[in-house]
Amino acid sequence: MPNFIKINNKIKNFKKTIIVDSDKSISIRSLMFASLASGISEIKSLLESEDIFHTISCLKKLGVEIKKKKNKYIINGVGINNFNYRKKIILNAGNSGTLARLINSILIKSPNKIKIVGDKSLSKRDFQRIINPLSKFGAKFYPKNRKTLPLSIKKFSDIKSKNFIENKGSAQVKSAIMLAALNFESETYIKAKKSRNHTENFFKFLKIPITIKKKQKYDLIKVKGVKSFKSFKYDVPSDISSGLFFIALAILTKNSETTLKNMNINISRMGAIDILKRMGIKFIFRNKRKYKGEEISDILVKSPKKIIAINCPTKMNSRAIDEFLIIFLIAAKAKGISYFKDIGELNQKESPRLKVASKFLKSIGVKNYSTDNSIKIIGNPKLELSGNYEVKNFFKDHRIFMMSTIAALTLGGNWKIFDPDCFKTSFPSFLKLIKKVGGKYKLSK
Ligand code: S3P
Repeated sequence: MPNFIKINNKIKNFKKTIIVDSDKSISIRSLMFASLASGISEIKSLLESEDIFHTISCLKKLGVEIKKKKNKYIINGVGINNFNYRKKIILNAGNSGTLARLINSILIKSPNKIKIVGDKSLSKRDFQRIINPLSKFGAKFYPKNRKTLPLSIKKFSDIKSKNFIENKGSAQVKSAIMLAALNFESETYIKAKKSRNHTENFFKFLKIPITIKKKQKYDLIKVKGVKSFKSFKYDVPSDISSGLFFIALAILTKNSETTLKNMNINISRMGAIDILKRMGIKFIFRNKRKYKGEEISDILVKSPKKIIAINCPTKMNSRAIDEFLIIFLIAAKAKGISYFKDIGELNQKESPRLKVASKFLKSIGVKNYSTDNSIKIIGNPKLELSGNYEVKNFFKDHRIFMMSTIAALTLGGNWKIFDPDCFKTSFPSFLKLIKKVGGKYKLSK
């Protein structure tokens, strides 16, 4: 396995149309809903990344038949709380926080203990955020008082509470509550800070009772479980979080443009695009269409004449949560000082991303001032590099690897970026597409 990639040349200006890999959040959810449905579901364009392979293998261990036929995944749904598994199974969520958190929520009525484990990075991440709400639904977690994986879950008592407040803007927590609520025919109420709404869209599309009152800062969601719901067909669109790396490549390379086909432009995922618009970047949306509650479009972006710094409104944060690394890199080339606040959640990701990003920017000479919750980046439109740079990526964070690759290809210098396999958790075609748009790199040991 290669240890690092070497990049010694900036990318030349390019004009390319590409299709980035499918949406990770929707892929995980589509597999979970298909497993809980009654009957056979078909999913096309499922993301084929490590996080998804872990999802498939966890669901198979729970007794769900999942097969690939040509370009479709065929899932034989078992129904809600009707898994069929051996005693003492261990589910491995790999690197995926979404999988680990959501799988717990569909197991709250499990009569036997089920253990969920994850890789080194996932085992450091906070699980108290789902232990609290899922315990209110009557689940118990073992060992007691532990806040991280490995954890076992088992049904302990019947439902205790049906009112929840989600105030982190975490779609994983909101979705875990919603999926757990599926088990109860009584109503569950959630006051949730705005975050991505794919789970809500699946509820609506699958005709599972849900009402949503949209307020300025939060949504009031009411859901009601059902005895069963029908199987379905789904075609997963491309992931805007993956697309952003190529949008950044075009923005940071003079005289370039790229068109990303078939992108999911769900408004709850468009924070980064809204931030970039305020930074002076222009986007053209073509071929817009609605699909099962989501919105899909081709996106064209050209490199701008100049990038303007931003004082980023906090209301953008949860809609851009996975894109901040790349936004920070673009802010490093902006004219002026950019300020991002109330973004402490970034330190809860696959690596403590706010800390890692601040250190990374300093290592390439970009002045920045960060706290546990904010960062100020002193932009420099003339930023060009010529030295030697090494990105160790201690946490094997896929987005740190991809952001560093974009930095290397657009800023110059001689780079070694370690752990070139880690992007395969979310965006397995990343390096292939880098090559397609003309980026040169060498895999080395
Ligand atoms: C996700 C929600 C976000 C995001 C993650 C995917 C989801 O996490 O960072 O990559 O699919 O629900 P949080 O819920 O922790 O914000």
